[in-house]
Amino acid sequence: MQHQLVSVIDFGGQYTQLIVRRVREQGCYSEMVPWQQAEAHILDRKPTAVILSGGPRSTLEPDAPTINFDLIKDLPVLGICYGQQLMAKNLGGEVHKSTEREYGKRHLGPRTPGTLVDTLKNDLVWMSHGDKVTHVPPGFIVTTSTESCPVAAMENLSTKKFGVQFHPEVTHTPDGRDLLKAFLFNHAGLKGDWTPQNFIDDTLKSIRETVGNEKVLCAVSGGVDSSVVAALLSESVGSQTTCVFVDHGLLRKGEAEQVHETFTKTFHPNLIVINALEQFFSELKGITEPEQKRKVIGENFVICFERNKAVLESHDFLAQGTLYPDVIESGSSTASKIKTHHNVGGLPDWMKLKVIEPLRWLFKDEVREVGRALGLSSEVVDREPFPGPGLGVRILGEVTPERVKITQEADWIFREELRKSGLNKGIWQSYAALLDVRSVGVMGDERTYEQPIVLRAVTSEDAMTAQAFPFAFEFLEHVANRIVNEVDGVNRVLYDLTSKPPATIEWE
Ligand code: XMP
Repeated sequence: MQHQLVSVIDFGGQYTQLIVRRVREQGCYSEMVPWQQAEAHILDRKPTAVILSGGPRSTLEPDAPTINFDLIKDLPVLGICYGQQLMAKNLGGEVHKSTEREYGKRHLGPRTPGTLVDTLKNDLVWMSHGDKVTHVPPGFIVTTSTESCPVAAMENLSTKKFGVQFHPEVTHTPDGRDLLKAFLFNHAGLKGDWTPQNFIDDTLKSIRETVGNEKVLCAVSGGVDSSVVAALLSESVGSQTTCVFVDHGLLRKGEAEQVHETFTKTFHPNLIVINALEQFFSELKGITEPEQKRKVIGENFVICFERNKAVLESHDFLAQGTLYPDVIESGSSTASKIKTHHNVGGLPDWMKLKVIEPLRWLFKDEVREVGRALGLSSEVVDREPFPGPGLGVRILGEVTPERVKITQEADWIFREELRKSGLNKGIWQSYAALLDVRSVGVMGDERTYEQPIVLRAVTSEDAMTAQAFPFAFEFLEHVANRIVNEVDGVNRVLYDLTSKPPATIEWE
């Protein structure tokens, strides 16, 4: 089915992917497009509406990022921050440099009744800008202001052009969702025709077209992403698909067995398990640098396949569960590169398989919805995200079988207590990490000199930002006592209080 598209043109803004997410939450399909590719994209994809994102540059710079406004003259457009300034500048208004940057929460003045900003019942908005619009283009009206921002919003109802200086997509603008909803449904003619079932229908069709009569290898980890990929393949090209599970020894306690059981029982009988514990431990020997570990782990996945020549030779595609945040963080868009995710950038050049990534446009919660619509169990669909390199990025310093065992045992205790207390339901990710320092302790009458475990538990919406979970002290104390008493090799337990940013969710 052909569904309507909202194109979010990205000018390098920090929140652009959040705009896409918010639009999709309303049941409207949306894609993020770097401004350099906007022209080709608009001509080819014919969006129903366009949103211009914020960005770090100034529209006053001679080579400022821009697009050809003729292309969108007949479309409903919402410009946000830099997007509003660009619209003002291109349609005959004026933008000026401010002496000071306006950043943080602001209260809007009165909103003109009946205009787009009139949907904001709460006057609180989030601002983050230097330049500002000083004169609106002909045909536009100013619809609200703040003390320091004379054009906090503007619109030209007859041409369906709207601009806001603040960010409706962030939660700091409490009623921002209502504004986006009003733009989409009242002004841009969106029908809200994007559902998990539409995504499934489109994806099954496109997998069949891409794969044809060829064969697909699907590396599965037991996590929700690769399980959903495997289910999509099963439904579309099932008889041409082989699922491969590489047991690298870096999973959580009991997970390898669990993966095997749920996988063979639930939906795909064609599963090969490769036991690669010795290979991974021997290749990881002596390696302590995080990115190097990721590289070694990524390469060894492929080496595993190569060692199973019969499997490799008879397949043409490798299906991966890459998600939209991975694509964005790996620098495929204009946002800058932060870490190498092995399932996007770490694959060696010599790999011969063609890669298909059916989930590369989805956020995690959307993958879960798709999984549910495909009939996967809650055990699979609600599993916490787990990094491809597994405990490799949760064990600081060298990864050895002994250190993996310590981490697995501590992690098991932590998560068992989370399950028992029901706290796991409100947590995005939780784990125990092992540090590569030692400290002195005392147990019984003995002096100990052992390693510390760090507990990490975060809430998050999409892993782009995260906050430490606010446990009661007694809970943490109880878990710490159990770990120190039950896990040999640990004499201290710490709790990581840092949010992302400035930290990341994983320790490496
Ligand atoms: P960070 O640590 O960057 O993690 O805040 C964000 C999300 O990504 C997961 N993560 C990874 N996933 N390969 C993966 O497949 C990796 O190398 C990797 N590193 C981090 C992490 O668990 C969190 O959900």
